[in-house]
Amino acid sequence: MKSPSAFYKPLAIGAPAPYREKPVRVERMIHFVPPHIEKMRAKIPDMIAKVDVILGNLEDAIPADMKEEARKGFIRLAQDNEFGETGLWARVNCLNSPWLLDDITEIVGAVGDKLDVIMLPKVEGPWDIHYLDQLLAQLEARHAVSKPILIHAILETAEGVNNVEAICAASPRMHGISLGPADLAASRGMKTTRVGGGHPGYRVLADHAEGVERSFYQQDLWHYTIAKMVDACMAHGLKAFYGPFGDFSDLDACEAQFRNSFLLGCMGTWTLHPSQIGIAKRVFSPEADEVKMALRILEAMPDGSGAVMIDGKMQDDATWKQAKVIVDLARQVAAKDPEMSKIYGL
Ligand code: GLV
Ligand code: MG
Repeated sequence: MKSPSAFYKPLAIGAPAPYREKPVRVERMIHFVPPHIEKMRAKIPDMIAKVDVILGNLEDAIPADMKEEARKGFIRLAQDNEFGETGLWARVNCLNSPWLLDDITEIVGAVGDKLDVIMLPKVEGPWDIHYLDQLLAQLEARHAVSKPILIHAILETAEGVNNVEAICAASPRMHGISLGPADLAASRGMKTTRVGGGHPGYRVLADHAEGVERSFYQQDLWHYTIAKMVDACMAHGLKAFYGPFGDFSDLDACEAQFRNSFLLGCMGTWTLHPSQIGIAKRVFSPEADEVKMALRILEAMPDGSGAVMIDGKMQDDATWKQAKVIVDLARQVAAKDPEMSKIYGL
């Protein structure tokens, strides 16, 4: 473990100092774009206004013979657009691939000042973060990048899940973690062929009762991992995210998966298809009725202590804290999104 006094020191002479407080940004959806496709790049100016984060994907789903085109396309996309409040992220190839080194050196060299976050796939442990942390500091120094580029890890291997707390603690550059259910399923030996969501075979059988047909109740395959990821992230001041939902034809299931992760503590999700953007926006902005109730709790307990009854329900210091989580998030969303500001009355 690095000594606390060294934790926030830049890792290269001339690199920007790491953030002590991360910039507060609303990141309800990280929208994936395949940057080697010109038609997709042409949609970016419109997309900037619709999503919270635009991510150029260089890793899985980009064919091996298109990796360099995708990297070049991402650099072009970054140079050709002004992103304003919308985040610009890149998902680079994994550390043991032939592409990662050029992904990082070329992107930071060309557009390091525009890039907010690098999403690193298949992170196994803190050693992966340490490597990228040092490399980024060297490149930031060489190219006089003025603000630190953050790292977002994908939790998608069994070893990564075992090491999730150490991954979160590895560097002040850590932004957060996303669940990668497809790779994680393979790494764990789960017997599925899906990208996120439930499975009809993963269920509990109701007790046997005379003359009653026994029901099956489908369970959530991802509950354990999401909860573990949220605890690790929140304990380290990072943000947890759901990842991909691959069945674009089942928007209800997509919404259910997004909502479960939101309720468990996630701050956003990936959107792989435009039809998922509106769902993510709806789910990861707190519901208006919840915000109204949370505001009533804060008003009823101005100093956050004691106990009051509201509509027959007990409120105390702990529910005040829950209400504050919701109101703080609603204020952030309202500050960014005029439509939600009107709905919340904030
Ligand atoms: C995402 O990368 C996943 O593997 O689910
Ligand atoms: Mg993956």
